[in-house]
Amino acid sequence: MSRDDDRYLLDNRQAEAGTRFDALAELFDPSTFRHFDDLGLAAGWRVWEVGAGGPSVPRRLAERVGPTGRVLATDIDTSWLSDSAVLEVRRHDIGTDPVPAESFDVVHARLVLVHVADRAQALRTMVRALRPGGVLFLEDADPALQPLLCPDESGPEQELANRLRRGFRELLAARGADLGYGRKLPRLLREAGLTDVRADAYFPITSPACAVLEAATVRQVSASLLANGLATEEELTRHLAAVEAGRLDLATSPMISCWGRRPLD
Ligand SMILES: C[S@@+](CC[C@H](N)C(=O)[O-])C[C@H]1O[C@@H](n2cnc3c(N)ncnc32)[C@H](O)[C@@H]1O
Repeated sequence: MSRDDDRYLLDNRQAEAGTRFDALAELFDPSTFRHFDDLGLAAGWRVWEVGAGGPSVPRRLAERVGPTGRVLATDIDTSWLSDSAVLEVRRHDIGTDPVPAESFDVVHARLVLVHVADRAQALRTMVRALRPGGVLFLEDADPALQPLLCPDESGPEQELANRLRRGFRELLAARGADLGYGRKLPRLLREAGLTDVRADAYFPITSPACAVLEAATVRQVSASLLANGLATEEELTRHLAAVEAGRLDLATSPMISCWGRRPLD
């Protein structure tokens, strides 16, 4: 496979990124915030949202921690984020940049580490940013655990959808994404010295937001799929028509949510 460039495949500068962030928020924010609730997120907490992407999670976190709390939202591309009284936005590469000077009650990253080349360094940086007793809360997809876009492969449109999804995963893997990363999180958190490690998984089996996410994702990566011989123009057109007509039950990969606590010193 040719590597057409080394950038993050789903570049935030592309117009479809905003649509993808909205769909991710609709699909996964309820589960993410159920976990934050269980962790006891409350007024006054200091939270670092790593690889924030769109505004949904940082804004909601800022509302929850209130004026006595603080949210730091970082990303390699912060163009979809803006500061508020409680929320500070900063450009930061979790794989290479230093640990922030302050410490946090919780550090959260969703769908970020799977894309980072030096995932081990990123994990160390996030653990070091926790106050003693603070919680690292990581969420990452595990596409290898449930690889199908259409789990009910009932006809040619579903078969094409699943084939294009395999092509998309090849593109991600060629850029160094670990497609079986989600399942490793519990072990990695324990090896990082965290205690009370827990994990669970969630994924929608069908939802209008899955169709919105799929259409935006395909549009965003269509040039790479074509350049690497993973799809033809005709297949992409046919697939997008089926997605947009609502004829397919589209799922996502399982989202593994995993959390663990830094021991008290
Ligand atoms: C799939 S999006 C997920 C966005 C958001 N966390 C969510 O769940 O909706 C991945 C995000 O990670 C960011 N990202 C990729 N590599 C990164 C890195 N090395 N450091 C920080 N952010 C990174 C991307 O810019 C993008 O905003």
